[in-house]
Amino acid sequence: MENILVIGSSGQIGSELTLALRKVYGNNNVFATDIRESSKEITQSGPFHLLDVLDEKRLIHFVIRYKITQIYILAAVLSGNAEKLPLQAWDINMKSLLNILDLSREVGIKKVFWPSSIAVFGKTTPKVNTPQLTIMEPNTVYGISKLAGERWCEYYNYKYDMDIRSIRYPGLISYKTEAGGGTTDYAVEIFYDAIEKGSYDCFLKSDTKLPMMFMPDAIRGTVELMESEKSVLKIKSSYNLSGISFDPQQLSDEIKKFIPEFKISYNPDFRQSIADTWPQSIDDSNARTDWGWKSDYDLNKMTSIMLEEIKNKFETKI
Ligand code: SER
Repeated sequence: MENILVIGSSGQIGSELTLALRKVYGNNNVFATDIRESSKEITQSGPFHLLDVLDEKRLIHFVIRYKITQIYILAAVLSGNAEKLPLQAWDINMKSLLNILDLSREVGIKKVFWPSSIAVFGKTTPKVNTPQLTIMEPNTVYGISKLAGERWCEYYNYKYDMDIRSIRYPGLISYKTEAGGGTTDYAVEIFYDAIEKGSYDCFLKSDTKLPMMFMPDAIRGTVELMESEKSVLKIKSSYNLSGISFDPQQLSDEIKKFIPEFKISYNPDFRQSIADTWPQSIDDSNARTDWGWKSDYDLNKMTSIMLEEIKNKFETKI
């Protein structure tokens, strides 16, 4: 039997991944934790505890008490916010990972999942179909912490023969939990504003093409990676994963197919210079070959679901 600890169950990935894991492993075997309260869907469907990943003592007690066998560490400060408080962001992003890696080695945790990001790449990286193995010179705090994290994951995998798995997520788009402080978040905000105001003022330029992914693909990909046999997983750092690549103009054109009067304006802020260093599209052939990854959602399918679901959210609030 597996007992799974999710750290960061209130966040953008955690709020959906926790529910998906409960479906696979059983409601009572997935322990959701965060430093703030999670949604009712999570707190009422299985165990939820307030827990700080930086509190090493409580963490180890928790893991022993609940006989945890797998850990998902999803707590992180995203790219935009990390630029505002670089050292604090570095501390949180790195300490959370290192605490878990070392604790997992000590108590013999069977599997660990940790999210990396397209932010590991930098302006010297080839931008189109960015390969798994390539030049990596990130120049954001978030990117530097993710690249260092990948190196640590690989180090623990080889040095201690552990099973730590990771994905370099593209920008994630979801209607359930809003992201916070990311550079790709315009692609979530735009849907809320399209429905609420009929217009959106975008913080990136119209032709800033970035790799993105609809959350159901990201959740399925994560579960599939974690369910794969260890022997097929040749990448011991983090897998490239590709969904849909588009720029704000293309997304706006797609929204106009559903809301013809929708208007977009552009006012690039500091996040433009972050986006300018990231890839436009990702080559995920290693993930396809090793564990059979394939994305399901294209721009049209994602846009129609996002608009429909967010409209429902607003209607049920009224
Ligand atoms: N979505 C993240 C961000 O924009 C990238 O991993 O920070």
